[in-house]
Amino acid sequence: MEKIRIDRFLSSQLGISRGDAKKLLRGGVVTANGAPVSKAEQTVDAGADLVAVGGKALSYKKHLYIMMNKPPGVISASRDPKEPTVVDLLPEELKRPGLFPAGRLDKDTTGFVLLTDDGVFAHEILSPRKHVPKNYTARVGRRLTEAEEERFRGGMTAGGVSYAPALLAFAGADETDGTFLYSVTIREGKYHQLKLMFAALGAPILRLHRNRIGGVSLDPALAPGQARELTREELFSVRNTADFR
Ligand code: URA
Repeated sequence: MEKIRIDRFLSSQLGISRGDAKKLLRGGVVTANGAPVSKAEQTVDAGADLVAVGGKALSYKKHLYIMMNKPPGVISASRDPKEPTVVDLLPEELKRPGLFPAGRLDKDTTGFVLLTDDGVFAHEILSPRKHVPKNYTARVGRRLTEAEEERFRGGMTAGGVSYAPALLAFAGADETDGTFLYSVTIREGKYHQLKLMFAALGAPILRLHRNRIGGVSLDPALAPGQARELTREELFSVRNTADFR
Protein backbone atom coordinates (compact mmCIF):
# COMPACT_ATOMS: atom_id res chain seq x y z
CA MET A 1 0.00 0.00 0.00
CA GLU A 2 1.44 3.33 -1.04
CA LYS A 3 -0.75 6.22 0.07
CA ILE A 4 0.07 9.54 -1.55
CA ARG A 5 -1.74 12.83 -1.96
CA ILE A 6 -3.75 12.98 -5.16
CA ASP A 7 -2.13 16.24 -6.32
CA ARG A 8 1.30 14.63 -6.00
CA PHE A 9 0.07 11.52 -7.78
CA LEU A 10 -1.30 13.56 -10.70
CA SER A 11 1.81 15.72 -10.87
CA SER A 12 4.17 12.72 -11.07
CA GLN A 13 2.07 10.61 -13.44
CA LEU A 14 1.13 13.41 -15.83
CA GLY A 15 4.41 15.34 -15.62
CA ILE A 16 2.60 18.52 -14.57
CA SER A 17 3.18 20.96 -11.71
CA ARG A 18 1.37 20.58 -8.39
CA GLY A 19 -0.43 23.84 -9.20
CA ASP A 20 -1.74 22.43 -12.49
CA ALA A 21 -2.76 19.23 -10.70
CA LYS A 22 -4.80 21.32 -8.26
CA LYS A 23 -6.46 23.10 -11.19
CA LEU A 24 -7.49 19.73 -12.63
CA LEU A 25 -8.92 18.74 -9.26
CA ARG A 26 -10.86 22.00 -8.98
CA GLY A 27 -12.11 21.45 -12.55
CA GLY A 28 -13.99 18.36 -11.38
CA VAL A 29 -12.47 15.99 -13.96
CA VAL A 30 -10.60 13.68 -11.59
CA THR A 31 -12.04 10.48 -10.13
CA ALA A 32 -10.65 7.78 -7.84
CA ASN A 33 -12.35 4.40 -8.16
CA GLY A 34 -15.20 6.19 -9.94
CA ALA A 35 -15.83 8.80 -7.22
CA PRO A 36 -15.10 12.46 -8.00
CA VAL A 37 -12.09 13.96 -6.16
CA SER A 38 -11.59 17.70 -5.83
CA LYS A 39 -9.44 18.08 -2.69
CA ALA A 40 -5.67 18.12 -3.22
CA GLU A 41 -4.99 16.62 0.20
CA GLN A 42 -7.08 13.52 -0.42
CA THR A 43 -4.83 10.45 -0.57
CA VAL A 44 -4.93 7.49 -2.94
CA ASP A 45 -3.28 4.10 -2.83
CA ALA A 46 -1.03 4.62 -5.85
CA GLY A 47 -0.66 0.94 -6.67
CA ALA A 48 -4.29 -0.09 -6.17
CA ASP A 49 -6.75 2.80 -6.70
CA LEU A 50 -7.95 3.55 -10.19
CA VAL A 51 -7.43 7.26 -10.84
CA ALA A 52 -8.94 8.74 -13.99
CA VAL A 53 -8.80 12.18 -15.58
CA GLY A 54 -11.67 13.12 -17.87
CA GLY A 55 -12.78 9.48 -17.77
CA LYS A 56 -9.35 8.19 -18.92
CA ALA A 57 -7.64 5.84 -16.46
CA LEU A 58 -4.00 6.56 -15.55
CA SER A 59 -1.75 3.52 -15.34
CA TYR A 60 0.49 4.08 -12.35
CA LYS A 61 4.25 4.01 -12.76
CA LYS A 62 6.28 4.58 -9.67
CA HIS A 63 9.38 5.44 -11.68
CA LEU A 64 10.30 6.09 -15.28
CA TYR A 65 13.30 4.54 -17.06
CA ILE A 66 14.05 6.17 -20.40
CA MET A 67 16.51 5.48 -23.21
CA MET A 68 17.59 8.53 -25.22
CA ASN A 69 19.76 8.89 -28.30
CA LYS A 70 21.65 12.00 -27.23
CA PRO A 71 22.60 14.34 -30.05
CA PRO A 72 25.81 16.41 -29.94
CA GLY A 73 25.64 19.85 -28.31
CA VAL A 74 23.34 18.78 -25.48
CA ILE A 75 24.50 18.41 -21.90
CA SER A 76 23.81 15.47 -19.58
CA ALA A 77 22.01 17.36 -16.81
CA SER A 78 18.45 18.01 -15.65
CA ARG A 79 18.52 21.74 -16.23
CA ASP A 80 20.97 24.42 -17.14
CA PRO A 81 20.61 28.20 -17.40
CA LYS A 82 22.36 28.37 -20.80
CA GLU A 83 22.65 25.01 -22.53
CA PRO A 84 19.98 22.57 -23.74
CA THR A 85 19.87 19.44 -21.57
CA VAL A 86 18.79 15.84 -22.17
CA VAL A 87 15.75 16.46 -19.92
CA ASP A 88 14.75 19.48 -22.06
CA LEU A 89 14.65 17.18 -25.10
CA LEU A 90 12.12 14.75 -23.60
CA PRO A 91 8.70 14.73 -25.22
CA GLU A 92 5.84 15.97 -23.01
CA GLU A 93 4.49 12.45 -22.38
CA LEU A 94 7.81 11.36 -20.86
CA LYS A 95 8.42 14.47 -18.75
CA ARG A 96 7.92 14.28 -15.01
CA PRO A 97 9.49 16.05 -12.06
CA GLY A 98 12.73 14.53 -10.74
CA LEU A 99 14.11 13.01 -13.94
CA PHE A 100 17.89 13.07 -14.33
CA PRO A 101 20.49 11.30 -16.47
CA ALA A 102 21.92 8.21 -14.74
CA GLY A 103 25.48 8.68 -15.95
CA ARG A 104 26.85 11.49 -18.08
CA LEU A 105 28.09 11.77 -21.62
CA ASP A 106 30.23 14.75 -22.62
CA LYS A 107 28.47 17.52 -24.52
CA ASP A 108 29.91 16.38 -27.87
CA THR A 109 29.47 12.63 -27.21
CA THR A 110 26.39 11.06 -28.81
CA GLY A 111 24.31 7.96 -28.12
CA PHE A 112 22.70 6.04 -25.28
CA VAL A 113 21.75 8.01 -22.17
CA LEU A 114 19.53 6.54 -19.49
CA LEU A 115 17.17 8.91 -17.68
CA THR A 116 15.23 8.05 -14.57
CA ASP A 117 13.64 9.46 -11.43
CA ASP A 118 14.72 6.41 -9.43
CA GLY A 119 17.74 7.40 -7.36
CA VAL A 120 18.28 3.90 -5.97
CA PHE A 121 18.41 2.40 -9.47
CA ALA A 122 20.82 5.12 -10.66
CA HIS A 123 23.09 4.48 -7.71
CA GLU A 124 22.97 0.73 -8.42
CA ILE A 125 24.04 1.03 -12.05
CA LEU A 126 26.59 3.78 -11.47
CA SER A 127 28.26 2.22 -8.47
CA PRO A 128 31.85 1.27 -9.35
CA ARG A 129 31.28 -2.00 -7.47
CA LYS A 130 28.54 -2.99 -9.94
CA HIS A 131 30.86 -2.81 -12.95
CA VAL A 132 28.05 -2.27 -15.45
CA PRO A 133 29.93 -2.28 -18.78
CA LYS A 134 29.34 0.48 -21.31
CA ASN A 135 30.23 0.07 -24.96
CA TYR A 136 31.28 2.93 -27.23
CA THR A 137 32.47 3.49 -30.77
CA ALA A 138 35.49 5.78 -30.78
CA ARG A 139 36.65 7.39 -34.02
CA VAL A 140 40.34 8.29 -34.17
CA GLY A 141 42.76 9.62 -36.77
CA ARG A 142 45.15 6.67 -36.94
CA ARG A 143 45.39 2.97 -36.28
CA LEU A 144 46.77 2.02 -32.87
CA THR A 145 49.85 -0.19 -32.70
CA GLU A 146 49.56 -3.58 -31.03
CA ALA A 147 51.59 -2.30 -28.08
CA GLU A 148 49.18 0.64 -27.67
CA GLU A 149 46.16 -1.67 -27.88
CA GLU A 150 47.69 -3.87 -25.19
CA ARG A 151 48.38 -0.85 -23.00
CA PHE A 152 44.75 0.18 -23.33
CA ARG A 153 43.46 -3.31 -22.54
CA GLY A 154 45.75 -3.91 -19.61
CA GLY A 155 44.57 -1.06 -17.40
CA MET A 156 46.53 2.08 -18.05
CA THR A 157 47.43 5.25 -16.22
CA ALA A 158 46.97 8.62 -17.90
CA GLY A 159 47.61 12.01 -16.35
CA GLY A 160 48.04 10.40 -12.93
CA VAL A 161 44.64 8.64 -13.09
CA SER A 162 44.55 4.85 -13.30
CA TYR A 163 41.94 3.07 -15.35
CA ALA A 164 40.76 -0.53 -15.01
CA PRO A 165 41.33 -3.02 -17.84
CA ALA A 166 39.03 -2.35 -20.80
CA LEU A 167 37.96 -4.18 -23.94
CA LEU A 168 39.16 -2.82 -27.27
CA ALA A 169 38.57 -4.12 -30.80
CA PHE A 170 39.41 -2.53 -34.13
CA ALA A 171 36.09 -2.00 -35.93
CA GLY A 172 37.26 -0.85 -39.36
CA ALA A 173 38.49 2.11 -41.36
CA ASP A 174 36.20 4.79 -42.77
CA GLU A 175 37.53 5.47 -46.25
CA THR A 176 35.29 8.47 -46.74
CA ASP A 177 37.26 10.53 -44.22
CA GLY A 178 40.36 8.44 -43.50
CA THR A 179 39.43 7.76 -39.86
CA PHE A 180 39.55 4.54 -37.82
CA LEU A 181 36.88 3.05 -35.60
CA TYR A 182 37.32 1.18 -32.33
CA SER A 183 34.74 -0.66 -30.26
CA VAL A 184 35.57 -0.02 -26.62
CA THR A 185 33.97 -1.33 -23.45
CA ILE A 186 34.69 0.17 -20.05
CA ARG A 187 33.12 -0.49 -16.69
CA GLU A 188 34.01 2.76 -14.99
CA GLY A 189 32.70 6.24 -15.65
CA LYS A 190 35.63 8.49 -14.84
CA TYR A 191 35.71 12.08 -16.06
CA HIS A 192 36.47 12.25 -19.83
CA GLN A 193 37.74 8.69 -19.43
CA LEU A 194 37.97 7.53 -23.03
CA LYS A 195 39.14 10.86 -24.39
CA LEU A 196 41.94 10.95 -21.82
CA MET A 197 42.91 7.31 -22.45
CA PHE A 198 43.11 7.70 -26.24
CA ALA A 199 44.83 11.08 -25.94
CA ALA A 200 47.46 9.49 -23.68
CA LEU A 201 48.17 6.99 -26.48
CA GLY A 202 48.62 9.87 -28.92
CA ALA A 203 45.40 9.14 -30.87
CA PRO A 204 42.84 11.72 -29.72
CA ILE A 205 39.16 10.84 -30.14
CA LEU A 206 37.47 12.71 -32.98
CA ARG A 207 33.97 11.40 -32.27
CA LEU A 208 32.51 9.22 -29.53
CA HIS A 209 29.18 7.39 -29.49
CA ARG A 210 27.74 5.17 -26.73
CA ASN A 211 26.04 2.03 -28.07
CA ARG A 212 25.29 -0.09 -25.02
CA ILE A 213 24.74 0.02 -21.27
CA GLY A 214 24.96 -3.40 -19.69
CA GLY A 215 23.19 -5.84 -21.99
CA VAL A 216 20.96 -3.19 -23.60
CA SER A 217 21.71 -1.63 -26.98
CA LEU A 218 20.54 1.78 -28.10
CA ASP A 219 17.39 1.27 -30.19
CA PRO A 220 18.38 1.98 -33.82
CA ALA A 221 14.85 3.32 -34.42
CA LEU A 222 15.61 6.31 -32.16
CA ALA A 223 16.85 9.27 -34.21
CA PRO A 224 19.19 11.71 -32.43
CA GLY A 225 17.18 13.52 -29.76
CA GLN A 226 14.45 10.88 -29.56
CA ALA A 227 13.62 8.87 -26.45
CA ARG A 228 11.40 6.01 -25.31
CA GLU A 229 10.76 4.06 -22.13
CA LEU A 230 12.87 0.97 -21.50
CA THR A 231 10.93 -2.27 -21.82
CA ARG A 232 10.68 -4.48 -18.72
CA GLU A 233 13.18 -6.88 -20.27
CA GLU A 234 15.65 -4.05 -20.94
CA LEU A 235 15.31 -2.75 -17.41
CA PHE A 236 15.94 -6.23 -16.04
CA SER A 237 18.93 -6.61 -18.31
CA VAL A 238 20.55 -3.29 -17.30
CA ARG A 239 20.17 -4.25 -13.66
CA ASN A 240 21.50 -7.75 -14.07
CA THR A 241 24.34 -7.46 -16.52
CA ALA A 242 27.19 -9.64 -15.43
CA ASP A 243 30.60 -8.12 -15.13
CA PHE A 244 32.65 -8.80 -18.27
CA ARG A 245 35.86 -9.71 -16.48
N1 URA B 1 34.47 8.90 -22.04
C1 URA B 1 34.63 10.18 -22.44
O1 URA B 1 35.75 10.67 -22.58
N2 URA B 1 33.54 10.91 -22.70
C2 URA B 1 32.29 10.44 -22.61
O2 URA B 1 31.32 11.15 -22.89
C3 URA B 1 32.14 9.10 -22.20
C4 URA B 1 33.25 8.34 -21.92
